[in-house]
Amino acid sequence: MSSFSIFVSRCIPDAGLSLLKKQGYKVKVSPHDRVLTKGELLREMKDIDALLCLLTDKIDGEIMDAGSPRLKIIANYAVGFDNIDLKAAAKRRLFISNTPGPEITESVAEFTVTLMLALARRVGEAERFIRAHKYRGWEPMLLMGQDLYGKTIGIVGLGRIGGGVARRLKSFGVKFIYNSQSRNADFEKEFGARRMSLEALLKQADFVTLHVPLTRETRYLINRKNIKLMKKTAYLINTARGPVVEEKAVLQALSKKQIAGAAIDVYECEPAIDCDLKDHMELRKLDNIIMTPHIASATIAARSAMAEAAARNIIAALQGKTPPNAVKPE
Ligand code: GLV
Ligand code: GLV
Repeated sequence: MSSFSIFVSRCIPDAGLSLLKKQGYKVKVSPHDRVLTKGELLREMKDIDALLCLLTDKIDGEIMDAGSPRLKIIANYAVGFDNIDLKAAAKRRLFISNTPGPEITESVAEFTVTLMLALARRVGEAERFIRAHKYRGWEPMLLMGQDLYGKTIGIVGLGRIGGGVARRLKSFGVKFIYNSQSRNADFEKEFGARRMSLEALLKQADFVTLHVPLTRETRYLINRKNIKLMKKTAYLINTARGPVVEEKAVLQALSKKQIAGAAIDVYECEPAIDCDLKDHMELRKLDNIIMTPHIASATIAARSAMAEAAARNIIAALQGKTPPNAVKPE
């Protein structure tokens, strides 16, 4: 039995922890049910062979150095890995891994569709209406929304999740347009989809849904300038990463009713919901927005699969192999 030591920065589903323990590894899970401070994380890095961290942990060169020389891998419990300095990791010859997989793809895609339908049919407003004791009986024009049927869905980033959203929506009688670095001829054929520039997509789509990772290129992909291209009747859905959208742009577009609505699961200044309250512009004050607390992958199946994937990445690295989900610098 080896004596490798793993630190897990916050409790995750047992599916992953038990895989690690089965290897005979010493597994320490943070006793705190919160994000660790940098100081706490630095202290835990001493004498570990692997770190299993979360997207809420900022992992920079200093953290990596605190773990040397035994540290082999930092396994992120997430699909996204914008919280990790990949260049710093490459310099130190550390493996970085993420947790993609069919379960998380399906969960995030399902949740994205959930948000689209909830937005179009004003489920959040309807719920608040009931709770505010406003319902007086059926009305011909109460809380009229829109159908997805006949609408144009604009998918920005056609990876597994973007494709999963399309697969689900196919039966809704929608049209698909997409913006992606590369063309996907199979997707175009199967879904009758057209690839176009982001600008053209924003002009034509009734629902704009974001499925790109957060990188230097995608930061503020949707901003004050191009949000103006969207139709007045269009909706924006973000289950990717907060900073892919300039928060102020959404605030302005929604408060001036330049777009019909937005559904947001991720925030520019997460965990803060609003980056800056000095201007008294608050997302929470708007009715035409649905906000959820970064839960797109929060299903038992997806989170258990993520825990297992993170564990398998660690086991591979500690066995001297390349982790199945190793990620490289851009
Ligand atoms: C969640 O946001 C993830 O990247 O897995
Ligand atoms: C996630 O797994 C994606 O590639 O979209």
